[in-house]
Amino acid sequence: MASPIPLAKKQQINLLRGWPSPHLLPADLLSAACQRVLADPVESVPILQYAPDEGYQPLRERLAQWLGRHYGVEPDANRICITGGASQNLACVLQSFTDPHYTRAVWMVAPCYHLAATIFEDSGFAGRLRAVPEDDEGIDIEELERRIKALESKERIESQAEPKPFKNPGPFRKLYRHVIYAVPTCSNPSGKTMSVRRRESLVKLARKYDALVISDDVYDFLQWPLDGAVDPQRPPEMRLPRLCDIDMSLGRAENDSQGFGHTVSNGSFSKIAGPGVRTGWAEGTPAFVLGLSKTGSSMSGGAPSQLCAAMLADLLRTGELESFIETKTRPELQRRHKIMMDAVKEHLEPLGAVGRESSVSGESIYGGYFVWLTLTQGPPGVLVSDAAVKEENIIIGRGDMFAVRGDEQGAKFDQNIRLCFSWEPEEALVDGVRRLGLLIKRMQGNLAHYEKMAAEVKDSDRPVSSWV
Ligand SMILES: Cc1ncc(COP(=O)(O)O)c(C=O)c1O
Repeated sequence: MASPIPLAKKQQINLLRGWPSPHLLPADLLSAACQRVLADPVESVPILQYAPDEGYQPLRERLAQWLGRHYGVEPDANRICITGGASQNLACVLQSFTDPHYTRAVWMVAPCYHLAATIFEDSGFAGRLRAVPEDDEGIDIEELERRIKALESKERIESQAEPKPFKNPGPFRKLYRHVIYAVPTCSNPSGKTMSVRRRESLVKLARKYDALVISDDVYDFLQWPLDGAVDPQRPPEMRLPRLCDIDMSLGRAENDSQGFGHTVSNGSFSKIAGPGVRTGWAEGTPAFVLGLSKTGSSMSGGAPSQLCAAMLADLLRTGELESFIETKTRPELQRRHKIMMDAVKEHLEPLGAVGRESSVSGESIYGGYFVWLTLTQGPPGVLVSDAAVKEENIIIGRGDMFAVRGDEQGAKFDQNIRLCFSWEPEEALVDGVRRLGLLIKRMQGNLAHYEKMAAEVKDSDRPVSSWV
């Protein structure tokens, strides 16, 4: 969609778009893998046919090995099924394990990945998305519990009878009472990583309230130490247990007679091989994974992305994908992050912008695609975004985009902006931040003018992620 706001005639810099830079797309590796997997009819015929519901078996097995090594857990292909990526799988999880009448609410750690809201709304949760604030360690567990209790007791008072589900989950699936949505590692947008103790408390709370935690673990392979040089040989230091690993380590919960567990890890190849492959994986208990594979759209033709799944399985077999991530993707993102943070220090910090260097309190670790800034001396993020489009042809993420839709008061981000360092060329990252600095300075000197300008902009004309 083209921008409805007339753009300044300067080179456009898009710091909103959360895409990988074209250099980070392993086209040649994927092309060679495609040739290999289609060369022999013994392999190519099943690959080009309908897939098993749980997905391409060699990819399940190789993922189990790779993830097992990475997270230090016992590999088990029965805990994994192949998906069409994190977004598609989020929709499938909701189709199979939630009910818009029975499931009370979707609790979203805020600021949240804004594009998830529509997926929840499509599954019948419009008006029932609830914000849960986070602090430096991640989700505020006490506040989440307080809000869950308040909701449950309000609903008990308002309607005596237990809500009856619309759906019949059948023998392979169950309906959860609550959903908690989190991006615990290198979160989009805040860049934060949840501490281990918060992870443990979150899993325990999910067990207590019959909640399913859907954990988008899409940035887990993109973490780097902040100190010192970019060293491709140096392995990432941070391998915190996923929520699903913690859930598994606690054994089956007392009230979980069928062993569905209370967490699902939503993994994706989008950030490590390319969003266009539209392939990912879900990891949970074997019962949960079996149930997920019984989602109607998987039963009709099998798991999505069968051809890409075969190509990616081949790249895991040869080790080329792992090596591409280690030697190219992660070091390039690390370098880009440093370039952007240096520019932020020079051009924005003197104007009161505060970022976080580390994604985990007390550790020099960062990762993901985004820098999240608080404009402590103003102006509000929405004003900066409007003026950046008009005067600089720069597109940024304004904080209020990442508030929880329908519960904007539950956690507010009016003073924040999100800048993406993965997409634009490195020179544009610096130039974009420099031009934003000049703009914010002008704005701080004449706020009334910019308030008037923003008042004339319709919300529907403001940047959205699909802008090109
Ligand atoms: C937290 C989060 N979840 C999911 C996605 C989308 O993942 P996929 O491309 O696998 O659908 C993104 C992409 O930006 C993301 O940041």
